[in-house]
Amino acid sequence: MEQQHETTPVWVQAWDPAEGSERVRALFADRFGAEPDGTWSAPGRVNLIGEHTDYNGGLCLPFALPHRTYVAVRRTDGDAVRLVSAQETSGVREVALSEVAPGTVSGWPAYVVGVAWALREAGHDVGGFDIAVDSCVPYGAGLSSSAALECAAAVAIDALYGLGLAGTAEQPDDAGRTALAEASIRAENEIAGASTGGMDQAVSLRARSGHALLLDCRDGSTRHVPFDLSAHDLALLVIDTKAEHALVDGQYAARRAACEEAASRLGIATLREIDLDGLGDALAALAHGTGPVGEGRDEVEVLVRRVRHVVTEIARVEEFVALLDDDRVEEVGAPMDASHASLRDDYEVSCRELDVAVEAAREAGALGARMTGGGFGGSAIALVRAGAVDEVAAAVAAAFAAEGLHAPAFLVATASAPAA
Ligand code: GLA
Repeated sequence: MEQQHETTPVWVQAWDPAEGSERVRALFADRFGAEPDGTWSAPGRVNLIGEHTDYNGGLCLPFALPHRTYVAVRRTDGDAVRLVSAQETSGVREVALSEVAPGTVSGWPAYVVGVAWALREAGHDVGGFDIAVDSCVPYGAGLSSSAALECAAAVAIDALYGLGLAGTAEQPDDAGRTALAEASIRAENEIAGASTGGMDQAVSLRARSGHALLLDCRDGSTRHVPFDLSAHDLALLVIDTKAEHALVDGQYAARRAACEEAASRLGIATLREIDLDGLGDALAALAHGTGPVGEGRDEVEVLVRRVRHVVTEIARVEEFVALLDDDRVEEVGAPMDASHASLRDDYEVSCRELDVAVEAAREAGALGARMTGGGFGGSAIALVRAGAVDEVAAAVAAAFAAEGLHAPAFLVATASAPAA
């Protein structure tokens, strides 16, 4: 019985939007003893392909999950932000907006007050508010629970302080949403202290239901690529490995720094300037160029592999999108598999749990599988036949049990709506 219990897949359901709104409204009323002015929400994301390319001015292809973070908010006088979360029992946190600066706010409130701070820095007249937060985006699973919180706060502040940036759900204002995304990125980089690249906030605010978002991080331009797997009898299975993943730790920043170092040695602004044709020359130049005194061959070899990942990964995004444009969805498994290998071997951001998930999914018949998000834990995605979702999930759960790993959790991802 024990064995059977361990291998029965656990599913993470998305709340219906009405349920999510009612939850935060009730939480707000309970903790603040009043009704909020309104409720807002923003999605987590998966990235189909294009990993660790955003901070290199590259391409990525995320879409918005049906799983969202909900906020109930009331505008207040003065500049105090009071925060409560359903995920935390420790009462009301309070932060004075005028005192917010890098390093001053700890924990999850940084993602909320960081957005208000960044909007103020951008010249908007933003003051205090009370906010209650609840979420069905799995936390720490590499599915952008932090961006979902930032972006839900961003659209709430936009509405309450009349900034006029988000537009309506029917007619989103893309330029305004880009500005809200920028404020959310500053919140994460400067107030929460995670040097992430901006993909997560862009998709949470600028996604379109039924589409993946082709995001060009060189100039922030986007294209909405139709992405309806059910029309092809396919589904995207997300496997939350439950392996702890933290972007605030040093590994993510170290990858980013290595890319910047390589670009600087090559005399270019970002690695986006190298294409597949120029890759061989660029790698040779790096290998033979000069680094700091005392640098060994190993350090140079690491830079070579990091650059090779980024440049080939950007090419794989183009390949993936070309297949979608050609209605050859079944063939995107190949670039997915190649992406995982590159992230594992050249970029070294995979881990045992992610590799087990990807291999077990493929063995159970997935057309392709890869880690998604920053890595070092978090989630993997697998492209599977619609009728085989349960079978592949059961096979992955069984593989985790056989390897003595914590039971993973699963969700089925469909391209959903942006923050509203
Ligand atoms: C995290 C970051 C993103 C991006 C991915 C890797 O999700 O938040 O900006 O760099 O990792 O593609």
